Amino acid sequence: MFPKKRNRRLRSNKTFREMFQENHLSPNDFIVPLFITEGKNIKEDIKSMPDYYRMSIDLIKKEVKLLWEMGLRSVLLFPKIEKSLKNNTGSEALNPNGLIQRAIKEIKNSIPEMVIMTDVALDPYSSYGHDGIVENGKIINDLTVEILKKMAVSHASCGADVIAPSDMMDGTIKNIRLELEKEKFHETLIMSYSAKYASNFYGPFRSALDSSPGFGDKKTYQIDFHNSKQAIRKTITDIEEGADIVMIKPGLTYLDIVKELSSMINIPIASYQVSGEYSMLKAAAKKGYIDYEKTIYEQLIAFKRAGSKLIASYFAKEIVKKFL
Ligand code: PBG
Repeated sequence: MFPKKRNRRLRSNKTFREMFQENHLSPNDFIVPLFITEGKNIKEDIKSMPDYYRMSIDLIKKEVKLLWEMGLRSVLLFPKIEKSLKNNTGSEALNPNGLIQRAIKEIKNSIPEMVIMTDVALDPYSSYGHDGIVENGKIINDLTVEILKKMAVSHASCGADVIAPSDMMDGTIKNIRLELEKEKFHETLIMSYSAKYASNFYGPFRSALDSSPGFGDKKTYQIDFHNSKQAIRKTITDIEEGADIVMIKPGLTYLDIVKELSSMINIPIASYQVSGEYSMLKAAAKKGYIDYEKTIYEQLIAFKRAGSKLIASYFAKEIVKKFL
């Protein structure tokens, strides 16, 4: 009998297609990145990221309330630090009354259930725009980690639920875990940006925070995009050091790494659909070249198919509103 197999049967009508759908998106899959700036009632355009904004803490609180009501369950906070507060050691990162510390406390107070994640790295605080301390043109690993572990405790003590180190130094996860335990933050999660590539897709984000490296690039700490084994090894190291969640970044172009890891490891994997990916889709949509929401939705499903449980995405709110 011909044909023995008719592959189209499983998709021959809508009900079948729904019954056999393997991957779904839910609002609780998303992490919403938020940019915070000083002041009151401030909502600033970000030139490199159309329709995304930097907001002062009062407006961020309103935004977070809205996100919670829509079913979104986690936010990832990024502060824009004034130039005058930046230096080589990023000392403002440890200011108990700094912008990020105040933001964490205020959001926690007004919407306690919302999961607050915080980026731990020196770049927004560094006068060099690097993720670590610079000496003679080099990024100094161990000195940087000493500061990052204090930064993590500072965030946890303000109420952060998940510490997300994005610095790509060696030993960060172990040192942060030990420090959190020592300070009795036994329940604080660590989401390591375990495989963060030296990517060209971060450009719009660096403009948003005014955090571009002042010299050189980040290739001595972030991973060379020609490689995958280093990303796997770094991720395994971070899990051994105590990470609860690992993140692969950027998103779409690194799904091979997610797929490989998802058959190897048994803790949740997150992907970060980064600023460059956001701005490219926005630009194409504004030109009318693509069907905006449907294209984004398709990309987000690709993350799920590859094995990401969580997706940090600047599209989270729009997509939840439209489809979920
Ligand atoms: C900082 C950090 C960066 C991003 C997240 N955390 C930039 C960088 O490493 O230069 C990029 C996010 C994005 O592009 O959306 N360590």
